[in-house]
Amino acid sequence: MNLNKIIWNHLLKSYSLLQRSIQSRNKTCCDCCCNFCKDKVAIVTGGADGIGLECARELLRNGVRGCVIGDVSREKECMEELTKEFPPCKIVFKHCDVTNKCQFSELFKVASSQFCGLHILLNNAGILNDGEWEREIATNVTACVRGTYMGLECMSKSKGGEGGAIINVASILGMQHFAGSPVYVGTKHFLVGFDRSIGDPYHYDRTGVKIFTICPGVTITPMIHNADKFAHKEFESGMGKLLSDALASLPPQGPEAVAKGLIVMLNQGRSGSVWVSEGNEFYEVRIPDRRTFRVGCGCCS
Ligand SMILES: NC(=O)c1ccc[n+]([C@@H]2O[C@H](COP(=O)([O-])OP(=O)(O)OC[C@H]3O[C@@H](n4cnc5c(N)ncnc54)[C@H](O)[C@@H]3O)[C@@H](O)[C@H]2O)c1
Repeated sequence: MNLNKIIWNHLLKSYSLLQRSIQSRNKTCCDCCCNFCKDKVAIVTGGADGIGLECARELLRNGVRGCVIGDVSREKECMEELTKEFPPCKIVFKHCDVTNKCQFSELFKVASSQFCGLHILLNNAGILNDGEWEREIATNVTACVRGTYMGLECMSKSKGGEGGAIINVASILGMQHFAGSPVYVGTKHFLVGFDRSIGDPYHYDRTGVKIFTICPGVTITPMIHNADKFAHKEFESGMGKLLSDALASLPPQGPEAVAKGLIVMLNQGRSGSVWVSEGNEFYEVRIPDRRTFRVGCGCCS
């Protein structure tokens, strides 16, 4: 073989290696970043109405192959709405009160038996009702922790799963105080701290499951329509009005804004990240280190 031929072969080989590397980089971008939902299986709790229903719709639009909806009400209405747009074989509605451990675990069994897997869990079911604060904590906190652990059990690569994403729906009230509903505020603060911790790379590197928090602002759903009825009864009368007036002063949005944001976050977000959806804007937030908001020296006051 003469020298020219050797150089020519070498160039051809390098060119084909380069092409393959570009193709594989593009493939990673398309398959992993740009379209996380394609062919995945999702569970949406509280998916029969409001933010959950809209998120289920958006997940289906983005190509999930199966969506299991768990809710305590509106089975007929929810199925009617979704099957206008998507084939019924892609959607299963299961009556599920997330505060009931057996009913919640059924959702995971259905995902496995009907769609052979699970990749996305949206812990969306939540209530705003400080008048029934024990049920509020059971729904907004305990059920989300249980769901997250059950989701990790199914999806973790370390347990034979394929990895995936778990999203807990908190609130902008998970990052600020609000006199009108102290327990609700506490439950949503819990989720932000829990998700940032369980979403840390320490866990993600082992599980391959990203954990996200979405914090919606005022979103026009049945929950917001009824907000004035749900203050704690022990508080002076007028607390319900304080609650509804304060919520009315914030920029509103439709549930579609949260659902569209969910897809952006699934495609681009890192595990442990916290995202706000408010007034039709969707953005990631970074929680500051406590030392940056220190106001004085405790020993002098
Ligand atoms: N709407 C808002 O302004 C707003 C703002 C911030 C956060 N959020 C959060 O978003 C989530 C969804 O809120 P939404 O406004 O769509 O509420 P919504 O009341 O309109 O819908 C909630 C759905 O969850 C279901 N649900 C309630 N308890 C359940 C339970 N124990 N088990 C299963 N399903 C249950 C309801 O039947 C309903 O279909 C909640 O976690 C809420 O705290 C809402």
